Amino acid sequence: MIKVPEHISSIKPYIPGKPVAELERDLGISGSVKLASNENPIGPSPLAVKAMRSGLKELNRYPDGSCYYLRNVLSDNLKVSDDQLIFGNGSNEIIELAVRTCISPGDEAIMAYPSFVVYSMIVQAAHGKNIVVPLKDWRHDLEAMASQITDRTRLIFIANPNNPTGTINTKTEMDRFMKKVPEGVLVIVDEAYYEYVESKEYPDSFTYLKANRNILMLRTFSKMYGLAGLRIGYGIAAASLIEEMNKVRQPFNVNSLAQTAAIEALRDENHIRRVKQLNIREKKFLYKEFEKMGVSFVPSEANFIYVTFNEDVAGNIYEKMLKHGVIVRPMGPNAIRITTGLQGENKKLVKALGKAIK
Ligand SMILES: Cc1ncc(COP(=O)(O)O)c(C=O)c1O
Repeated sequence: MIKVPEHISSIKPYIPGKPVAELERDLGISGSVKLASNENPIGPSPLAVKAMRSGLKELNRYPDGSCYYLRNVLSDNLKVSDDQLIFGNGSNEIIELAVRTCISPGDEAIMAYPSFVVYSMIVQAAHGKNIVVPLKDWRHDLEAMASQITDRTRLIFIANPNNPTGTINTKTEMDRFMKKVPEGVLVIVDEAYYEYVESKEYPDSFTYLKANRNILMLRTFSKMYGLAGLRIGYGIAAASLIEEMNKVRQPFNVNSLAQTAAIEALRDENHIRRVKQLNIREKKFLYKEFEKMGVSFVPSEANFIYVTFNEDVAGNIYEKMLKHGVIVRPMGPNAIRITTGLQGENKKLVKALGKAIK
């Protein structure tokens, strides 16, 4: 047996949301819905699908390793220079590249709990040390996070909005926090859900980038743009950091269909509007239904809702909902996370949750 180092063998594997096909196979049921992985329930833009179809016949070629055309579109849209962008096989890969670039064994990364579980797994895989700071009122406790900074701190992760709570940290809080972060510490602001945010208090992370603060912003095509299956996301940072991150990036890490689809997805404003409006309307519907049921939840700025219970019943509720053909995501002993779906899916969810909490 190969000897695997302890920092690898002790990683707790990531458990993805159960696929619909698996649930239906296991229980012999049909018509199930998956509201577990914060996916876009409408699907990708038809323009993106059309572009991918015409890209199929060129799949004998390697993709453009520089994502040239997509880079041009985004650098125009975001008003950053093209060497401030890096593309990845999902924004997950950008997290990985940032950690591999910045963390040596024993270095520390600060993150919140609960937050996106992948941060701590990747840091641990790099033999770094996770410094975990509990959320306060379901939001990142930025003051407590800043107080954990030491000489070994290299990275700080802030998911804004946070997954799984859907909460944001405000501009005022971020301004105050960024002033406390010393030179040599990189703040990774994960904005996977930023397109969904309605709050006027939401910070514009570009102001920190423009002020030469050490910041890496993460964005993805997996959520609002409905391209989770293609795996494409990107990072925005100072050109000097991007240059270092590119050294640990595989040359053809983003496939050609993903590049083509992403360009069209960005262009399709009608589709984006539709996805956004559906999410706003359906969140309202779910809030109302949860209130009627007496279920506690955290109001969300994203496309999912964190539902909490007074007792450790989340596993039980999750299992019961599965039997009614609804897949949600259990989050520890007393919470579940529910992705907003289509109207019919949400109605099915409400029924299943109602039965499960009885
Ligand atoms: C906060 C957060 N960051 C990043 C990701 C990863 O997204 P991607 O599909 O781009 O790898 C997710 C996905 O669920 C997420 O919730």
